[in-house]
Formats: sequence, structure tokens, C-alpha cells
Amino acid sequence: MHSLEIKKGIHWIGSVDYESRDFHGYSLSPRGTTYNAYVIEDEKNTLVDTVKHGHFGTFKRRLENVMAPEKVDYFIVNHLELDHAGCLAQAVELCKPEKIFCSTLGLKAMQAHFDISGWPVQAVKTGDSISLGKRTVHFVETRMLHWPDSMLSYIPEEKLLFSNDAFGQNIASSERYVDEMERPYVLAAMKEYYYNIVLPFSPIVLKTLDAVTEMKLDIDFIAPDHGLMFRGAADVAFVLDTYRQLAEQKTRKQALIFFDTMWNSTEKMAAAITEGLEQSGVPVRAFSLKNNHHSTVQTALADCGAVIAGSPTHNNGIMPHVSAMLTYMKGLKPQNRIGAAFGSFGWSGEGSKIVHESLASMGMEMPVDPLKHQYVPTNDTYKACVDFGKAVADALIKKCDG
Ligand code: FEO
Repeated sequence: MHSLEIKKGIHWIGSVDYESRDFHGYSLSPRGTTYNAYVIEDEKNTLVDTVKHGHFGTFKRRLENVMAPEKVDYFIVNHLELDHAGCLAQAVELCKPEKIFCSTLGLKAMQAHFDISGWPVQAVKTGDSISLGKRTVHFVETRMLHWPDSMLSYIPEEKLLFSNDAFGQNIASSERYVDEMERPYVLAAMKEYYYNIVLPFSPIVLKTLDAVTEMKLDIDFIAPDHGLMFRGAADVAFVLDTYRQLAEQKTRKQALIFFDTMWNSTEKMAAAITEGLEQSGVPVRAFSLKNNHHSTVQTALADCGAVIAGSPTHNNGIMPHVSAMLTYMKGLKPQNRIGAAFGSFGWSGEGSKIVHESLASMGMEMPVDPLKHQYVPTNDTYKACVDFGKAVADALIKKCDG
């Protein structure tokens, strides 16, 4: 089981999970993922993060490829979520480190996850640094990016940033570097990861990017804990720029439609609304929630400035898939969008209003009233739906131009 030397004396010893499809229980990971861990050879040999439970054997063999585990002196634990710390107790038992560094809130999370009595844990905060011998490690806490305990570790002598979850992508591959893959493939994975995991913390992302600029950290290599690494100034600039764009959420001239349907009436309304948007020059990404996972729809939001959601009225409410989608999207706190709601009904008819109110509660601008139709769409309904699509398109274009 080979390791990979990413800089002289610094090795990737992670695990590639080709089978991962359910990332953290809420998001699909159709490309698989990796759990990246690293080991640094220095006067104090240092391990940076571990891997998910079940991948310990792979991690151990890659570590042994570099050094005997008992030669590891220090652990750096940038984040306690179990895809990175799932093997921590086994690794502590294996290596018996002299010190374990984590953030102040990391210490609390560590106590909550493990029996750490006897563990030589030392909490660190932003501005603290430790010497490994030839190199130093500087710590930068990134609270709520994306857990309270999260932090980054930076080695100025190597211009190397261990970024933990930040800048990750769910990609399982033999390649370890972004420059070895097709750029659109990587970008799609970055959007999927950002929009399903990082999006709510966008204000913190922007602050962190500003802080990195202010601290004048000289970085030519970013090593995240998921997916591919970024080496060289061009790829580091690519990932920092991409994150800034994703975090800024500038309104994009494209519309997302998602819906569920019982007897195809709401589906037909969705098709006519699509027509209206397209006639106005706004491209549409449309998803039936019967056939698409909520995280797939959420990923498509990355390129869309309008959210148009449809549900038939069901038991004085809305369809369960639509309810789940709206709940998921609301938790991820999208910004700078406009919204609109539609749906068919049989008798009571409150479904589209409920969807409208849900989108409005996310802070979306709602330029048109909810559109509903009783039973089967007629020619007049089609015309009303096309006009509805055009009205949303006009509002979106105005917002993008304004
Ligand atoms: Fe990759 Fe927050 O765990």
C-alpha cells in the first residue's frame, strides 16, 4: 500500500473510498470520496488528521510505508468529525504520540467522542504555532467552517496549507492532484461539495479568505482532507477564486425548477413554466423530485438565481418530497435568489401558497403570486404558466442586471 510524497518529507497516507455514495447521511457522493491524512518527517514526526472508521488498515499500511508508527511524535487533529477522526483512538493506541494538538473547541469535541484520559492533548488557537524542527506549523481556527472545532494548519517553510474540509471535493480516483483531472469534472465536484456542506457558512468563508489575504500567507499548495490536492500558484488561485465566487452567491441568470406531481398536472405546469422562462432567454434546470435526490437539486442551485418550486396540494399540505427539499434547502441558507411557487389541486388548494411562504422564509424575493390550477390543466392554464415563467424571467433578468 503505497504512500505519496507531496513535498520533500511530507506524505499523503489517506484512503480512497470508491464505494461512498451517501456522504454523511444526507448528500449523494456519486464520484466516491477520499479521506486524506498526511505525515511529516521532521525532528518531531507529525501526523495530520486520520481517516474514517473502517479505513484504518489502509491508513496504517500507508503510514508504515513512510515510518514505523511508534516514530510519530505529534498528532494534529484539525477536525473531529468521524470521517477524519474515526480512527483517532486506534491511531493513538498505535503511535502513542507525545502530543496531540487540536483547537480549544476541538478538545471539547474530542472529549465528547472518545475517552481521552491519558491522551497528551494540547489545545491551540489562531496565532499559535509549534516547531517540528526544520518546520513550523501555524494554526488558524475556522469556527463553523464547518464545525465549531474546525481549524487549518499552515507550514510557511513549505508554503503548504492543510485545509481539512475546506476546498474538498468528493472524488475517488487514482489521481491525487487537480491538475491531473479534467477541470470541469473537478469544478462540478467542488460545487456539489460546497452547495451541500459549506453553503450556510459562506459569510465565514469570505471572512476567512479575507483573513488569509490579510495574513499574507504565502501558499503554493493546498492539501484538503477530501479529494484532490491543489499544487502550484495557478491551482491555488483557482480554488481560492472559486470559493470566493461560490460564497458571494451573485445572482445567476438561470432558473431551477423542482416539483413533485400526483396525476401529472403539476408536472405539466412545470413544463409550461419552463417554456415561458426559455422564451425569455433564461435557461432552466428542471428536476422531478421523484427521480432526483435533494442533494442533486441543491447542487444545481449553484448556477441558478431563481428557484421555482411546485407541489400539488396533498392533505391540506404539500407533497413529502417537496417538503423535504424545501427543508434541506432552507438549512443551507441560499442567498440572493428570487422564488416562485406553483401547483395543482383538487379541492382545498393551499399547496402552492405553502411552498411560496417556505421560499419567502428563506429570504427570497417573491415577484409573483403563487400559481395554482384545479385538476387538469387547460389551454388557459398553459398560457397562465407560460406567462408566469416569463414574469419570473423578467424579475430575474432585472435582478441580474441591477
Ligand atoms: Fe469531512 Fe466535516 O468532515
